[in-house]
Amino acid sequence: MVPSVDGRIVTEGWPLPRGLLSEYERTAATFDADAWIIGRVSMEPYAGRAALPARTGRARIPRTDFIARSDAPSYAIAVDPGGKLRWESGSIDEAHAVTVLTERVPERYLAFLRAQGVSYLFGGRDRIDVPVVLRKLRERFGIRRLLLEGGGKINGSFLAAGVIDELSLLVAPVADGGVGTPTLFDAPPGPAPARHLKLLSVERRRGDLLWVRYGVRRSEVDRRP
Ligand SMILES: NC(=O)c1ccc[n+]([C@@H]2O[C@H](COP(=O)([O-])OP(=O)(O)OC[C@H]3O[C@@H](n4cnc5c(N)ncnc54)[C@H](OP(=O)(O)O)[C@@H]3O)[C@@H](O)[C@H]2O)c1
Repeated sequence: MVPSVDGRIVTEGWPLPRGLLSEYERTAATFDADAWIIGRVSMEPYAGRAALPARTGRARIPRTDFIARSDAPSYAIAVDPGGKLRWESGSIDEAHAVTVLTERVPERYLAFLRAQGVSYLFGGRDRIDVPVVLRKLRERFGIRRLLLEGGGKINGSFLAAGVIDELSLLVAPVADGGVGTPTLFDAPPGPAPARHLKLLSVERRRGDLLWVRYGVRRSEVDRRP
């Protein structure tokens, strides 16, 4: 993640250092991850704006996971409980697209995903159960190392579920100050899931970026799938 010094993450309007994207990619690559996962809002610009067909055929589609491909070099995963994303294809660059739904999505949306070649998993009946999703990602696609790349709501839900084991932040040289915009962790309502961190490393990077890595203390990773 690239937060401002005050933990905000909407980068539009920031005087960002040139080369930030390449620093971001270089940092992410050090983790040698199998996949990346982001929230529905953050995925919208990558998924595209394909039109949803008005009707489906007569055949019923079972509410079971659909795997279009399980041999991809990597996976681009979205959490989209209501089926709002309008995928234009089943891949983003070399990564195969996977979307995580709840069972309340309409049948025609499932038909749309199949036609676009997008794999889907059910993460729960009415709400997403994060540990269940992680277990399915491992079983269906062999994903063991997953980069959680925002925004604030998905990050907050993973923090609350206790499934984050490391934080990698490229802190931008920006004091944002905006009130009410997404932050690094925007957990669901309820007691704040504050986790205790251990500093692993700090490194100055090009453009006054600060790369900070923390481990989440083992006892705090309490709900591993
Ligand atoms: N600076 C950075 O490094 C960075 C990185 C990534 C994103 N961003 C920015 O972050 C902003 C978006 O953040 P955001 O917090 O608004 O959105 P987000 O986390 O990208 O997406 C939130 C949406 O995803 C779905 N979702 C995610 N986790 C869920 C869960 N556990 N259970 C149920 N639904 C879940 C919900 O979709 P529904 O609303 O459809 O129910 C939720 O409203 C954008 O401006 C983006 O550019 C910044």
